[in-house]
Amino acid sequence: MKAVLEKDVDTKSLDKIIGKYKGGPGDVLCILEEAQELHRHKYLPRETLEYIAENLDLPASKIYSVATFYAFFNLKPQGEHSIIVCRGTACHTKGSKALLEHLEGILKIRGAFDEGESFYTTPDNKFTVRTVACFGQCALAPVVVVDGKIFVHMDTGRLSRMVKELSRGGKKK
Ligand code: FES
Repeated sequence: MKAVLEKDVDTKSLDKIIGKYKGGPGDVLCILEEAQELHRHKYLPRETLEYIAENLDLPASKIYSVATFYAFFNLKPQGEHSIIVCRGTACHTKGSKALLEHLEGILKIRGAFDEGESFYTTPDNKFTVRTVACFGQCALAPVVVVDGKIFVHMDTGRLSRMVKELSRGGKKK
């Protein structure tokens, strides 16, 4: 039986992507990468993974294991904007816990990281906040990455201004 896809997944484009890479070197990785971009929340829903498995004649478990192995694949919906707070030792020493708590406050997601969680998307899908162990920029701690751009020596005031700007639809500075 054919897998049923979420309504907001563009099956025509997905078929095109599968057709483009199927049987080639690294086909699973290439397909997953483009399929993730296809989704408006930049993730790979279960239905998409099953559809890809079926169309590649592979067991779903194989596709799942690839999607879960690589950190750049998202299995949960991503917010419009991404904020990553480094929680490594150097950044912790320089106040990254306070930055994370500050974010929880301004985004009204208090307690989102209390249980050691490393990922949270706001209910309006505007922001995804996540934590990482180290960005390899320890000398410039605390480090925060916003929409793929690294910001060093971050402080709560600057973080507030960036979030406010992004909430209004502007660009980060
Ligand atoms: S601990 Fe934050 S960049 Fe290394």
